[in-house]
Amino acid sequence: MILTDLDDLFAPLERLDRFVIGQLGQSLDGRIATVSGHSHYINGPEDIERLHRLRALVDAVVVGAGTVEADDPRLTVRHVEGPNPVRVALDPRGRLDPARAIFTDGAASTLWIQSEAANRLDSEGKARDPHAAEHVQIVVLPAPANTFDPADVLAELDARGLRRVLIEGGGRTVSSFLEADLLDRLHVSVASLLIGSGRPGITLPQIESLEQARRPAIRHVLLGSDLLFDLDLRSEGA
Ligand SMILES: NC(=O)c1ccc[n+]([C@@H]2O[C@H](COP(=O)([O-])OP(=O)(O)OC[C@H]3O[C@@H](n4cnc5c(N)ncnc54)[C@H](OP(=O)(O)O)[C@@H]3O)[C@@H](O)[C@H]2O)c1
Repeated sequence: MILTDLDDLFAPLERLDRFVIGQLGQSLDGRIATVSGHSHYINGPEDIERLHRLRALVDAVVVGAGTVEADDPRLTVRHVEGPNPVRVALDPRGRLDPARAIFTDGAASTLWIQSEAANRLDSEGKARDPHAAEHVQIVVLPAPANTFDPADVLAELDARGLRRVLIEGGGRTVSSFLEADLLDRLHVSVASLLIGSGRPGITLPQIESLEQARRPAIRHVLLGSDLLFDLDLRSEGA
C-alpha cells in the first residue's frame, strides 16, 4: 500500500497506548553511517520530520552506546510540536562520557542503563552515579557477556509507565530488539545514496533459505527523495 500522508502513517500508532517501534534511516546499500560513524544526514528534511513525530508520540526513546558516542544526539522533539520522550541509553560497560548532551542538557528525563559489572551497587542497593545530573537516573540491569536482554529493558520501562517505546538506533540496538521479536513495527527509510561501506543497519543471524526470511506487511510512503518502508511485524505480507 502506498501512502501519501504522514497522518495516515501515524494513524495505527496513535490509537495504541502500548507498542514498540524500531527505526533506521539507511542508504540504498543498507548503511546507516560511514565506517567512522558519520550519519548526519543520510535522510532528507521530510524524513527528519517523520522521526521527530515518532519521538513526540512515544514515552521513551532508546539508543545504543554506539549512537550516543558517535552522534551525541539530543533525542528531543524539535521539528514538530510535542513533548520530549524519556531518553534511554544502553551502556552495558558504562563507557559513555558523562559530558554527552543527553546526560548534561536537562532537556528531558534520561535513563542510563548499565550492567551490574559496570556499576556495582552500593551497600543500600542503589546504583552509583557520581557524574549524573539531576535529570539522569542510572539503572542497573543484568548483562551477561555485556548484553542486555531486550525484554528486560522493556520490562524496566514498562514498570516506569513507559509503554510506547521507540528504538531509534543504531543498527546493533534495533537488530537486538528485532531478533528478540519485540518490535511491533519498524520504519526503514531508504535514502537515494550509496555509501559503499560503513555501519550496517539490520543484522540478524544467518538463515539457510528464503522461506525463513521475514515478509511482514508493508506500507510505503514517499518522503521527499526518501522512500519509507513501514513494516507491520505482527502481520504477514501478501
Ligand atoms: N541512520 C540512522 O537511522 C541512525 C540511527 C542511529 C544511529 N545511527 C548511527 O549508527 C551508528 C551506531 O550504530 P551501531 O550499530 O554501531 O551501535 P548502536 O546500536 O548505537 O550501539 C550498540 C552498542 O549499544 C550497546 N547495546 C545496544 N543494544 C544492547 C543490548 N541489547 N544489550 C547490551 N548492550 C546493547 C552495546 O554497547 P557496547 O558497545 O558498550 O557493548 C552495543 O555495542 C552511529 O554511527 C550512528 O551515527 C544511525
